[in-house]
Amino acid sequence: MDVYRILFFKCLIAGIVISSAQQGSGERTALYAQKWSAMPSETFPGGTYKYSNIANFPGSPAISASLVTLVPGGLRELHWHNASEWAYVLNGTCRSTVIESTGDAAQRPTETWDFATGDLWYFRPNEAHMVQGLAPTGCTYLAGYNDGAFDDKRALSASAWLSTLPPEILAQGLGTNASVVDANVAANTFTFMPLGPVPNTTIDEYRASFARLPSQDVVLTHRYQLANAAPAADNSGGWLRKAGTRQFPIATDISGAVFKIAPGGMRQIHWHTTLTEWQFIINGTVRVGVFTEPGVHEESILGPGDVGYAPKGAGHWLANTSKTEPAYIILIFDGGPFTDIDLPWMLGNVPYQVTATTLNTTVAFPEAVNYVENADIMVVTGTQLERAA
Ligand SMILES: *[C@@H]1O[C@H](CO)[C@@H](O)[C@H](O)[C@H]1NC(C)=O
Ligand SMILES: *[C@@H]1O[C@H](CO)[C@@H](O)[C@H](O)[C@H]1NC(C)=O
Ligand SMILES: *[C@@H]1O[C@H](CO)[C@@H](O)[C@H](O)[C@H]1NC(C)=O
Ligand SMILES: *[C@@H]1O[C@H](CO)[C@@H](O)[C@H](O)[C@H]1NC(C)=O
Ligand SMILES: *[C@@H]1O[C@H](CO)[C@@H](O)[C@H](O)[C@H]1NC(C)=O
Ligand SMILES: *[C@@H]1O[C@H](CO)[C@@H](O)[C@H](O)[C@H]1NC(C)=O
Ligand SMILES: *[C@@H]1O[C@H](CO)[C@@H](O)[C@H](O)[C@H]1NC(C)=O
Repeated sequence: MDVYRILFFKCLIAGIVISSAQQGSGERTALYAQKWSAMPSETFPGGTYKYSNIANFPGSPAISASLVTLVPGGLRELHWHNASEWAYVLNGTCRSTVIESTGDAAQRPTETWDFATGDLWYFRPNEAHMVQGLAPTGCTYLAGYNDGAFDDKRALSASAWLSTLPPEILAQGLGTNASVVDANVAANTFTFMPLGPVPNTTIDEYRASFARLPSQDVVLTHRYQLANAAPAADNSGGWLRKAGTRQFPIATDISGAVFKIAPGGMRQIHWHTTLTEWQFIINGTVRVGVFTEPGVHEESILGPGDVGYAPKGAGHWLANTSKTEPAYIILIFDGGPFTDIDLPWMLGNVPYQVTATTLNTTVAFPEAVNYVENADIMVVTGTQLERAA
C-alpha cells in the first residue's frame, strides 16, 4: 500500500501541503493543525466570535469549538444545540445560567454561576443556556462541542425563534395579546450576541431576581473550577489538570484538561483508546506530532490561539520548543471518561527481548528506555524513572 500517495491525495482534498517524516521533515501545514490564530473573529454589539469546525479545519470531524469574547454586559443569548458544550474561561469573568429539562414540568432545575479564569462549564445537549460578560473586563472563553460540523451561530436560540413566530401564535403561547407582541417584538431581530446593561448585582441577588423558576437545585453541577483542582501530574516537566467524568461527573460525553509544559518539557507520547483530542494553545510555542498510519508522522509548530488534533487511537505528543517560556494548552475530548496508553508504559509491560524483536534493535535499546509509571506524566528531558514492572 502506498501510504504517501494516499496521504498526498488526502492533502489535495484538504488543500494543504504535507510531507511524511521519511520524505524529509521541516515546517509544513498539516491536516491535523489549524492556524486558528490567523483567522479573524466576527464582531457583534456584545463581543466577538469565531469558530473552528470541519468547514475551516477539515481534519477535525469529531470536535468543533468557538472562541468568544463578551464585553461587560455582552450576552451570548439564550440558545441550545444538539452538541454538548464544554467551555474553559480563558480570562475575565462571566455569568451563566442553564435551564435543565428534567424533573417536574413546573420545577425545571436551573443553575447560575459566575465563572472566572480557569473555570469550566458543561451543558448537556439542547439544555438552554446563556452567558454574559461581567465588569470590569468581560470574559473570553473557549467552548468545545462534540460535533465537528457545529457552528454556534447556527444554534437554535430565543431570538432566532421568536423573530420567526407569527405574532398571534407567540401571543397565545406567552399568554399575552398580539398588540403587546407587535409593540415589543416588532423588530424581529436575531440578536446572537447583543449588548445589555452590565450586571451590577451579586450572584445571590441575581439568582433571587429570577421571575419564575427555582434555582440552584440541579443534581449535578454544571460548573467545575479546574484551575483550583489538584493536578493529575506535577513535576518539573509541567503539570496536568483533568476534568473527565470522574472529576466533573455531569460531563459524560465531552471532557478536557489544561496543562503546562515547562521549557524543555514534553507531554508524553501516547494515544487514547476511546477519545479524539482537540488542542488549543493558550500561550507558548509547541511542537506537536501525530501518527495516523504506517510511514506517516505529521508534525506542526503551534503558537498562541492555534489548534491541533489527534484522531481517536492516533499516537501523538506535544513538546515545548522554548528554552525560556512555558506553554499552556487546553485539551478537549469527545467523551467523558479518560483513556490513554503511554508509549513507555506499553513498552515497559513486555520483556526487553520482545521490544527488541519488535523494533529490530539490540536489547540495549529497551534497557535504556525511561519507563514511566504515571500515565499522565509530563516528561522532563533526561529524567531517569523506574521501570514499571
Ligand atoms: C439534531 O439532531 C437530530 C438527529 O438526532 C437532527 O435530525 C436534527 O436536525 C438536529 N438539529 C439541528 C438543529 O441540527
Ligand atoms: C483573553 O484570552 C484571549 C485568548 O487567549 C486573548 O486573545 C486575550 O488577549 C486575552 N485577554 C486578556 C485581557 O487577557
Ligand atoms: C393586551 O395586553 C395588555 C397587557 O396585558 C393590555 O394592557 C391591553 O389592553 C391588551 N390589549 C388588548 C387589545 O386586549
Ligand atoms: C444597576 O443596573 C441597572 C440596569 O440594569 C440600573 O438601573 C441601576 O441603576 C444599577 N445600579 C447601580 C447601583 O449601579
Ligand atoms: C523543547 O524545548 C527544549 C528547550 O528549547 C529543547 O531543548 C527540546 O529539544 C524541545 N523538545 C522538542 C521535542 O522539540
Ligand atoms: C499563559 O497562560 C497561563 C494560563 O492561562 C497563564 O497563567 C499565564 O500567565 C500565561 N502567560 C502569559 C505569558 O501570558
Ligand atoms: C533489522 O536490522 C538489520 C541490521 O541490524 C537489518 O540487516 C535487517 O534487514 C533488519 N530487518 C528488517 C526486517 O528490517
